[in-house]
Amino acid sequence: MTPSAAPAAAPAATALELTGLTRRFGSLTAVDGVGLDLPVGARHALIGPNGAGKTTLLNLIAGTERPDEGTIAFLGRDVTRTAPARRSRLGIARSFQQPTAVPDLTVLDNVLLAAWQHHPDRRGAWRRTARRERLVATAGERLADVGLAGVADRPAGSLSHGQRRLLDLAAALVARPRALLLDEPAAGLTDRDVVRLLDVLGALDDDIAVLLVEHNTEVVARLARTVTVLVTGRVLASGPVREVFELPEVRSAYLDAATTSDTPPAGDGAGGGAAQGVAKAHDSGTGR
Ligand SMILES: Nc1ncnc2c1ncn2[C@@H]1O[C@H](COP(=O)(O)OP(=O)(O)OP(=O)(O)O)[C@@H](O)[C@H]1O
Ligand SMILES: [Mg+2]
Repeated sequence: MTPSAAPAAAPAATALELTGLTRRFGSLTAVDGVGLDLPVGARHALIGPNGAGKTTLLNLIAGTERPDEGTIAFLGRDVTRTAPARRSRLGIARSFQQPTAVPDLTVLDNVLLAAWQHHPDRRGAWRRTARRERLVATAGERLADVGLAGVADRPAGSLSHGQRRLLDLAAALVARPRALLLDEPAAGLTDRDVVRLLDVLGALDDDIAVLLVEHNTEVVARLARTVTVLVTGRVLASGPVREVFELPEVRSAYLDAATTSDTPPAGDGAGGGAAQGVAKAHDSGTGR
């Protein structure tokens, strides 16, 4: 028997590939030629001063905004023109800068609503008792993950701001997404809720790519391996957290322009990981 050659290493799978993404609002270019590759399993932070275009970039990926230029590929499939509901069923989940739970529904029903919206067979999801029970069980598990099992029967409107953010996270996770877009998930959270958030995000499966917009630098340092700095819609730098934050232009641009009191992490994040070298937008010319 002839020895078979070792199989060639499979190329790293890419969860999200953004190429030349541009979004204009009148004369303002909110997102300006952004390119970004997130491998499967990425833990990537997107930082930058207020108005840098971070939320707009998440909107473009989720599909609630359409780019004027550029493309978005998700797990190798072009979704640039795919409707947001379809993108979410394909596995792109998000949480918003402001909590979005329906206040009059119970906490559990909010998660069930999200589970139903993502269900591949939405009309059939409730017809069979077994399916319904499975959905309820999964929703309950996600609530337990974020520490809200004890308030599952309460109206979402009765929760604290931090609890509603955690509820949004449970709703985003209930359909087992492959890409998770989080817009400032730690904003307004108590220290205890931040710890809970870090626990939940730290325990996510490796097949989920996380793109995290966050001003809380402790959260960035704890969760992100790589980071992109966005300033006036453009990528200033992108790469391993530690290296990017050592760049003088990042320190000055971010610190000078940021309107929060946060300072960038000293570079003690998870570091390295699957990241490539630091790419400076003005050097590479690719905007990555
Ligand atoms: N729908 C819109 N119409 C017009 N201008 C918009 C719209 N959405 C965003 N903008 C503008 O685009 C720019 C980028 O906004 P965006 O919300 O993406 O910034 P951000 O980085 O998320 O800021 P923040 O840290 O304050 O959340 C801002 O100047 C904003 O005013
Ligand atoms: Mg924003």
